[in-house]
Amino acid sequence: MSQKLCIIGLGFIGSEIIKYLDQFRNKIGLSAVFDIDKKKMEEIAEKYPKVRLMASITDFDDCDLVIEAATQQVVKEIFVKIVKTEKIFIPMSIGAFITDDKIYSDYITLEKSKQQLIKFPSGAIGGFDAINSIKQIGIISAKLTTTKPPVVFREQKYIEENKIVLSDNEKTQVFNGNAKEAAKAFPRSINVGARLALATLGPEETIVEVYSDPLTKRNTHEIEIYSEVGVYRFSFQNNPSPTNPKTSWLAALSILEILEKI
Ligand SMILES: NC(=O)c1ccc[n+]([C@@H]2O[C@H](COP(=O)([O-])OP(=O)(O)OC[C@H]3O[C@@H](n4cnc5c(N)ncnc54)[C@H](O)[C@@H]3O)[C@@H](O)[C@H]2O)c1
Repeated sequence: MSQKLCIIGLGFIGSEIIKYLDQFRNKIGLSAVFDIDKKKMEEIAEKYPKVRLMASITDFDDCDLVIEAATQQVVKEIFVKIVKTEKIFIPMSIGAFITDDKIYSDYITLEKSKQQLIKFPSGAIGGFDAINSIKQIGIISAKLTTTKPPVVFREQKYIEENKIVLSDNEKTQVFNGNAKEAAKAFPRSINVGARLALATLGPEETIVEVYSDPLTKRNTHEIEIYSEVGVYRFSFQNNPSPTNPKTSWLAALSILEILEKI
């Protein structure tokens, strides 16, 4: 029997997943959707009349899989209900897991079988097979360096509050701290720091540097890991999604990889 999927958030990532769901026909079917933007819900209702429009973000009782592609706040609001169920949860706004101390401690103390139901997509980065192997021995340091075009940072609260000037000519460092502070500073654009932190040294020990670069059109993530096992550098130069420059296209595709495994 086909597994019932619900998607919360019908922006770039949510709609991209829906576009490719056909490849899972008879195995996973779109059952319900929710977005605070009613217009987006109506568009789905028109295109897919059998899909149920959820009444709220927690109206997913009849679903087997829940994908969150909305905001960190949505993850925070549904987490308690999610862990009480046996549903598979695929959160995109992974920052919520490290910016909220309660969610972080609840997550890391979950019993293994429950923890395994929460599937973090690799998002805009990768290399987690190697990272998980290195972890068997131990990680000495883990650092993410993210570089994005200035448009991603303009009008972000952190930039305005810290009076950071985004140069139109040269690369500017806009953040240097740990993954927890980075996910708080840029709740919509540095989820990869959270993903790396959850796989390595945690929110406080994982280092994040963020740069604004007017000479790039790509979202670049460079990971550097030191371990007794060796030194590892991974580099990802992502094209932004066609409709949301803050999101790398690869991030949406990483959910499909999880669905494939399921
Ligand atoms: N893990 C990663 O590597 C990674 C990469 C890119 C984006 N993300 C995150 O994934 C999420 C979605 O990204 P996107 O590019 O699709 O964003 P988007 O802005 O294109 O879409 C977000 C959608 O969520 C909806 N929304 C906002 N608040 C909501 C609420 N309270 N309830 C229901 N819907 C709500 C919006 O109306 C919008 O349609 C963001 O939080 C983003 O930061 C994670």
